[in-house]
Amino acid sequence: MVSEFMYELFSDMPRQGPGSNKCTRKAYKLLANLPPQPNILDVGCGSGMQTLELARISKGQITALDNYQPYLDDLKRRAKADGFSNRIKTINSSMFDLPFAKGSFDIIWSEGAIFIIGFQKGLREWKPLIKRGGYLVVSELTWLKTDIPEEIRAYLENEYPGINTIVENIEIIGQEDYDLTGSFTLHESGWWDDFYKPLQKRINLLGHKYAENLEALAVLDASKEEIDMYRKYSLYYGYVFYMMQSK
Ligand SMILES: C[S@@+](CC[C@H](N)C(=O)[O-])C[C@H]1O[C@@H](n2cnc3c(N)ncnc32)[C@H](O)[C@@H]1O
Repeated sequence: MVSEFMYELFSDMPRQGPGSNKCTRKAYKLLANLPPQPNILDVGCGSGMQTLELARISKGQITALDNYQPYLDDLKRRAKADGFSNRIKTINSSMFDLPFAKGSFDIIWSEGAIFIIGFQKGLREWKPLIKRGGYLVVSELTWLKTDIPEEIRAYLENEYPGINTIVENIEIIGQEDYDLTGSFTLHESGWWDDFYKPLQKRINLLGHKYAENLEALAVLDASKEEIDMYRKYSLYYGYVFYMMQSK
C-alpha cells in the first residue's frame, strides 16, 4: 500500500524529483559535437518535465522510459499538447534491464533516477548502449561539503545510502571509463519551484483525504521531514549534474 500511496503523492506534480528546465538546458548546452538529430534515452523520466525540455532544445528523437505507466500516460498527454508526439516515444520498462541494442543512443539522460540502480552500476550497465563519443548525463544527490553535521549525515545515509561526495563520484566516472566533460550543482530554486512547493500542496491535500489512514499519514510525515531537512541543511547536499562522455 505504501508504494502505491507514494505514487499517488507524486502524481499531478510538475515533476517527481528536484530539477529545473534551466538546468536541463544548461546541461544539454554543455554537450559538444552532437549530431543534428541525436537519439536520446531518458531513463526514469517520470511525467517527463525534462523530456519535454529536451524535445524543445534538441531536434532529437527521445525515448522516455519509466516503469510506472500513469507517469508515461501523463507525459504522452503533455507531449501531444506541445506537439511532440512524433519525437517522444514512451516505454514502460525497467532501468535494470534496458531493452535496446548496443550503441543505440547518442545520449542517455537521467535526472534524479540513477540512484535506483546505483550510480556506479548505472554507469557500467548503460554504457554499452551509448555510441562511442556519446554522452551519459545524470543528476545525482551528492554531498557538497565534507564537514557534515551528524543529524543530516545519519538521515541521508539511511534514506539515500549511495550518496557520495563530488570527488568520489568523479573517481567512479574514471573507473567506468568515461570522461567527465562538465558538472554543476542544481540551484536551490530547482528544489522548491517545481518539486518541494507542489509536494507541500500534495501533502496538505492528501493529509485531509487520508486523515484516518495511519500508513498514509506516516508517508506524509516522512515527506515533510525530508523537506524540513533540506530547508535546514541545503548547504551540505544537492543534486549535481554530471556530463560524461563515453570513450
Ligand atoms: C525521482 S523520480 C525522477 C523523475 C524525473 N526524472 C524527474 O526528475 O522529475 C524517479 C523515477 O524513476 C522511476 N522508476 C523507479 N524505479 C524504476 C525502474 N526500476 N525502472 C525505471 N524507472 C523507475 C519512478 O517511477 C520515477 O518516475
